[in-house]
Amino acid sequence: MTDSRALSDIGWDELQALDIADRAAFFNHSDGEHHVLMAQQFSRERMDAIGHLATCIRQIAKEEEGARFLQHLLWTKRTMLYFTQPSSRTFLSFSSACRIVGMDRGEVRDIAISSEVKGETREDSVRTFSSYYDMIIMRTEIGGFAERMAWLLAHAGRPVPIINAGSGSDQHPTQALLDIYTLQRSFEKRGGIDGKSTVFVGDLMRGRTVRSLAQLLSAYDDVRMIFVAPDKLQIREDILAMLRSANVPYELTDDFESTIAQADAIYMTRVQDEWDNTPGETGSIDISRFSFREEHLRVLSPDAVLMHPFPRRHEIEPQVDHDPRAVYWRQMRNGMWVRAALIAGLFGREQAILDYHDANV
Ligand code: CP
Repeated sequence: MTDSRALSDIGWDELQALDIADRAAFFNHSDGEHHVLMAQQFSRERMDAIGHLATCIRQIAKEEEGARFLQHLLWTKRTMLYFTQPSSRTFLSFSSACRIVGMDRGEVRDIAISSEVKGETREDSVRTFSSYYDMIIMRTEIGGFAERMAWLLAHAGRPVPIINAGSGSDQHPTQALLDIYTLQRSFEKRGGIDGKSTVFVGDLMRGRTVRSLAQLLSAYDDVRMIFVAPDKLQIREDILAMLRSANVPYELTDDFESTIAQADAIYMTRVQDEWDNTPGETGSIDISRFSFREEHLRVLSPDAVLMHPFPRRHEIEPQVDHDPRAVYWRQMRNGMWVRAALIAGLFGREQAILDYHDANV
């Protein structure tokens, strides 16, 4: 049975003791999300709705009048971009998404220029942002911190929406949503995501995008996942347990080349050595077999797509970029539209956008 209590009515330890799907329900309301913290918040229907809204925004923004309409949606709102870990795409696409829907933006990207350098706690920093801003988008190296702050602000009586733009090595829900949108668009004329096989390659143990995307994909029918990694970087057991409970078939292997021809989507990732316990810990692992080379294009199905959340190192040769199946640059741009859709949804502007689209596009 769904817990009907509000986030402000539950203690932190009790919340954390819940199954993650039950925890996720505390961050939604009946029409959608109040915060965006974890992939478990999103049903298939909701992913379809977000994808449709992203497409509407993309199409509306093409015309100057449409762009002006979008910019008036949230012109009275302000957002804080609090990124204490490096980022290019997530930061810039969120910043651009805020601009698309007219939000003013503040940013802290380096705690050395905030009062944290004087000893202020992260919790006090975020609570301070909530005094000035209507939404906080945060990337942090601390797993679960965005969730903790959503809980804390609810108890502090200042429950501004929080968006998790990457937390620890556990979750990157907005990246997973833009990945789903990319797959929705790529397979639009092939029956959608249902029935498709995704091959995940690289550092799957610490790749938070893979963890969130596997969760979202498990909501689709007849999907299959193949996890290709060196033993030391293979996907963690909690994701496999989730797939078993969702009846999603999966395989684990370290033989990338044997999987290419079976793939509808290949999702490459880099080694996330920023999470090494000691510098260079994963440097001795031979990852040369876990890269996509130009010669692999001959084996890849003509209808398949090659994805990467980026940044990349050597996982995909640049010679592959010209191939129409290499969708990673489009995937990146999709992030801006999906993030604009999420923000509009958080502030209840979804219907206004759909109405404008129906009337004008
Ligand atoms: N995909 C992604 O999160 O990229 P950035 O680290 O550049 O934001």
